[in-house]
Amino acid sequence: MRSSIAMLLLILLSACATTRETRLYDALGGEAGVARLVDAIATETRDDVKIGFLFEDTDQDYFRARLREHICPISDGGCSYTGLDMVEAHSGMDLSEAQFNDFVDASRRAMSKAGFAIGVQNRLLARLAPKRDEVIHQ
Ligand code: HEM
Repeated sequence: MRSSIAMLLLILLSACATTRETRLYDALGGEAGVARLVDAIATETRDDVKIGFLFEDTDQDYFRARLREHICPISDGGCSYTGLDMVEAHSGMDLSEAQFNDFVDASRRAMSKAGFAIGVQNRLLARLAPKRDEVIHQ
């Protein structure tokens, strides 16, 4: 009896372990993966015909460093963000909902080009989407 309960627990535990998703930070490829992701997104948004002009005066090294830091905790990586909060970072731009969607589209294109799987893209975008109201109309 005791051994069958133990067996049952073992089966349940291994089922949990196999169904639990990989930490998003790891699925993105850790520090190097996030750096690759951010480079792809920053390049695609900077070169985008619709929203590229917004990044005309942007210090790309600074922006990429902050975006790496921002995506790290969002994806459950163990680092912290030192940049402006999302309202401050986008204040004075009065970004529209359409521009937010353009940014998401450009990010998706960038991630596909860089070889990130759709499932991983969706997981990241689902974590960025709730920031929308802090980013637009500021
Ligand atoms: C969830 C979505 C977004 C995230 C996580 C995000 C993240 C960031 C971060 C971390 C910074 C740097 C903050 C700092 O200066 O310390 C920043 C700045 C900026 N973001 Fe966003 N952003 C988002 C959406 C957007 C959208 C939709 C646009 C435009 C369509 C945009 C355009 C910019 C621009 C132009 C800057 C300023 C760069 C500069 O200082 O020149 N962002 N953003």
